[in-house]
Amino acid sequence: MDIAVKFKSVTTGPHPVYGFKTFHLGDFTFERDEYFTHIRWTTADGKPASHTMDAGDFLRALMRDVGWGFFYGWVNFDNVFGTTNHYKTVDVFAGTFNVNYKKAGVDLLQNFPTEEVRVTFVDMLEDWTNAGFDPYAAPQETGSPYGRKNGDNLDAVRRVRQLAERCVGLKDDLAMRTDGAGYPVNRAFADVPQDAPELHPEPGFENEIHAFNLFAYLSRSDVVWNPSFTSVVKHSYMCPTTEEHKLPIVHGNDRVEWFFQMSDEIVWDCGDKITAEPRARVVMKAGDMAAMPADCRHQGFSPKRSMLLVWENGSPQVVYDILEGRAPINPVSF
Ligand SMILES: [Fe+2]
Repeated sequence: MDIAVKFKSVTTGPHPVYGFKTFHLGDFTFERDEYFTHIRWTTADGKPASHTMDAGDFLRALMRDVGWGFFYGWVNFDNVFGTTNHYKTVDVFAGTFNVNYKKAGVDLLQNFPTEEVRVTFVDMLEDWTNAGFDPYAAPQETGSPYGRKNGDNLDAVRRVRQLAERCVGLKDDLAMRTDGAGYPVNRAFADVPQDAPELHPEPGFENEIHAFNLFAYLSRSDVVWNPSFTSVVKHSYMCPTTEEHKLPIVHGNDRVEWFFQMSDEIVWDCGDKITAEPRARVVMKAGDMAAMPADCRHQGFSPKRSMLLVWENGSPQVVYDILEGRAPINPVSF
């Protein structure tokens, strides 16, 4: 018997002036006007509550939440609204992980099947993104998110990971090509050497042995705050990325996450995962390493496009090991 449930987004509108649809998910309502997104819900004692976000900030966060499949742990759009991934279901919340909203009793958290949230968020992203705005792009490299409904940008919001069939750089790989058919070097990485490692494979193995210049590779990434290239060895995920402007979400960890700053500089604001209260400010310069503990939230600011290697533990078990005390919250105890 087919027990798969098919979900459709629930909408009203479009708005007679702004042209955007209004979306409904459980007891949450999402509206967009020319500049802002308004999230509305009803508190436990029946009072109306709402939260307003800049439409550009909201769409950049929504793009990551959709594109990353709700990611690991918490995707806070800001310190009020966000999602928590339970890997088969997703919590959608407003104020639940903010000590003052909790104290005031004005928060709401509702759990949904992952597919129901995904369908709603994908449709919202597609309806609310105007022509010329790419939520994955650095703000200086794309158009404006603002204004009334004006077309769409489905190519950008439906972007999916390009999967390598073989090791990057081997025959038929597009990204490393320098003949104009691959990705161009980004303006911020014009000084990154494009030379390649020397290779001396035994005769007959020329198409099986390869190495490439990761800095040159990353200099060609066309998006920011999105893993540009990922290697997967069992549960060890190496995710080098390029970062410019701010991380569009405040990531709340359910496991330890390591950062290696490969170039330039990122400043991280770190806070308490549950209360949103500030905990630390981490200034990472090229060559620095840091680990984000499993009980923090963090948001990075990269004044110039920079290269960051994020090392994720993709184990489906580790989150429960941490919850039940079998694995540490902090990666190192001094
Ligand atoms: Fe993170």
